[in-house]
Amino acid sequence: MKRFLVTGASGLLGLNMGLQVSGSIDMIGQVHSNRLQNVPFQQMVVDLADVKQTQRMMEEAHPDVLIHCAAMANVDECEQKPELAQRINAEVPSQLAELCKKMGTYMVHISTDAVFDGKNGPYTENDLPCPINQYALTKLAGEHEVLMKNPAAVVLRVNFFGWSLSGKRSLAEWFVKNLQVGQTVNGFMDVQFCPMMVNDLVDVIMATTERSLSGLYHAVGWDSMTKFAFGYELARRFGYDHTLIKPVSWHDGDLTAARSPDLRLKTVKLASAIGKPLPGWQDGVERFYQQAQDGYPERVLGLMQSS
Ligand SMILES: NC(=O)c1ccc[n+]([C@@H]2O[C@H](COP(=O)([O-])OP(=O)(O)OC[C@H]3O[C@@H](n4cnc5c(N)ncnc54)[C@H](OP(=O)(O)O)[C@@H]3O)[C@@H](O)[C@H]2O)c1
Repeated sequence: MKRFLVTGASGLLGLNMGLQVSGSIDMIGQVHSNRLQNVPFQQMVVDLADVKQTQRMMEEAHPDVLIHCAAMANVDECEQKPELAQRINAEVPSQLAELCKKMGTYMVHISTDAVFDGKNGPYTENDLPCPINQYALTKLAGEHEVLMKNPAAVVLRVNFFGWSLSGKRSLAEWFVKNLQVGQTVNGFMDVQFCPMMVNDLVDVIMATTERSLSGLYHAVGWDSMTKFAFGYELARRFGYDHTLIKPVSWHDGDLTAARSPDLRLKTVKLASAIGKPLPGWQDGVERFYQQAQDGYPERVLGLMQSS
């Protein structure tokens, strides 16, 4: 059985990955400030900002496959702490890519749809990125480092939603939590994206890993929508009042960092490599809803280790 090391196992993607696949693989999950309880995988507590800790983690785990999900993923926090963002989002992937190459470990590096400025979407892997905030700038630097240091690695640009440890990591959770209590929310009419349900993304990552793909791929939902429409579809499926979602421009929000208005990516390259279209938002919203009916969000919240 192959051994997987998943970084960011307390994050939205890493945790859902661990819950979904740890039964069929030998998995170790790296966490940092948030410790987990009752999870079906072994945990390692590591500060990836520390070069020595990171090296020790790789030597001790000695994985066949590294899924590198950990990141400084809060866009506004990256704007406020650009040096830390550079360390976590660019230098850590660089170190991991080098270590993977040396150890013969296959590396999947998770990047973002936010590397473009949104003037000419939808984008292919051949389009030139143009980051407009520190998050995008540092994530793009991370992509370059990984592919330069380890050409056998794969970089996936993603966008996803699902149920998280904090209950508020994803846009979908934010819509649902507010609409549930009759709270009005803003829905951006002028931001387009291609959301994928996190568990669908886990399937795509496993398909990528099985084929040992290398290079750069777009791994977002095959179809696009505005953020307003996403909120509307969630309200409709959960049976909440969709008029609580106010159609606004992202310029009206209180965001620190600039945002790309067009996050749409083309997924033809990855679809052709894995032999099927990428999952879309419709099935994803249904899966997200069904998980809520099954008590999955509460189970995920209960995995946070109480101090
Ligand atoms: N969410 C999205 O829609 C989205 C969109 C585009 C791209 N992405 C990319 O997808 C990946 C996963 O995102 P996510 O939403 O799952 O992120 P997340 O929920 O914010 O989780 C981030 C993870 O990184 C870990 N981490 C942060 N700083 C660390 C450090 N110094 N040392 C060790 N671990 C550290 C955190 O550990 P602790 O919590 O334990 O401290 C956490 O497990 C990231 O690469 C992100 O850039 C996400």
